[in-house]
Amino acid sequence: MNKRLGKEPFIHENCQLINVEFGDYTEVGIYNYLENVSLGDYSYTSRFCYIQNAVIGKFANIAAMVRIGPTNHPMARPTLHHFTYRLVQYGFAAADDDKFFQWRAEQKNFTGNDTWIGHGAVIMPGVTIGNGAVVGSGAVVTKDVEPYTIVVGVPAKPIKQRFPADVVQKLEAIKWWDWAYDTIRERLDDFYLPIREFVDKHYSPAVQ
Ligand SMILES: CC(C)(COP(=O)(O)OP(=O)(O)OC[C@H]1O[C@@H](n2cnc3c(N)ncnc32)[C@H](O)[C@@H]1OP(=O)(O)O)[C@@H](O)C(=O)NCCC(=O)NCCS
Repeated sequence: MNKRLGKEPFIHENCQLINVEFGDYTEVGIYNYLENVSLGDYSYTSRFCYIQNAVIGKFANIAAMVRIGPTNHPMARPTLHHFTYRLVQYGFAAADDDKFFQWRAEQKNFTGNDTWIGHGAVIMPGVTIGNGAVVGSGAVVTKDVEPYTIVVGVPAKPIKQRFPADVVQKLEAIKWWDWAYDTIRERLDDFYLPIREFVDKHYSPAVQ
């Protein structure tokens, strides 16, 4: 399929989107369920993702079958079953347990800019993934991930950093993900430079 992204999100078929905010050049793959989600500029999800209560930065790369924010059931109540909060559908009350849904919605996920969430990864509620971080395929992320760190496994643990600490500090200061569309276009060749040349070219204490 020839496609061109733009100001309107490109939503593929059979998606259910509830309270979703989109940046520019965003894309949502087939059969996604997104609820209470903000998807930053240039970020995309691949096929069959299920994402709830998440703030996703710019240039996030979310592979197929990723789940972000699988919601918790009430383990301290006498029953785990959802009839204690989905009251209406069972005819137990005229209204659902809004406080419970509110509690769930408050366990927000934050996924940084320029992140890559691998195939089938699960990111638990309330976790923050730092800018530039990578989550390996199949990982279950239960704790925050530091910027530019690669994590894998169940539970996910760091295996390496993408770049040395001084480079990361400069990338975080440059914040290239906030550059305007035309600036990115003009500087496209810079994204093929070795990383030290890229940061040396664009970092100055003034950009902080
Ligand atoms: C996490 C990832 C980026 C690491 O790549 P890498 O830096 O080249 O890492 P390596 O292949 O050198 O592996 C390093 C170690 O981590 C392990 N490892 C790599 N990926 C893993 C994963 N997803 N889960 C568990 N362990 C993993 C390797 O077995 C290796 O272990 P060892 O040191 O004990 O031998 C990559 O393996 C990955 O999972 N990519 C995601 C791919 C994907 O989901 N694409 C979807 C389409 S966008």
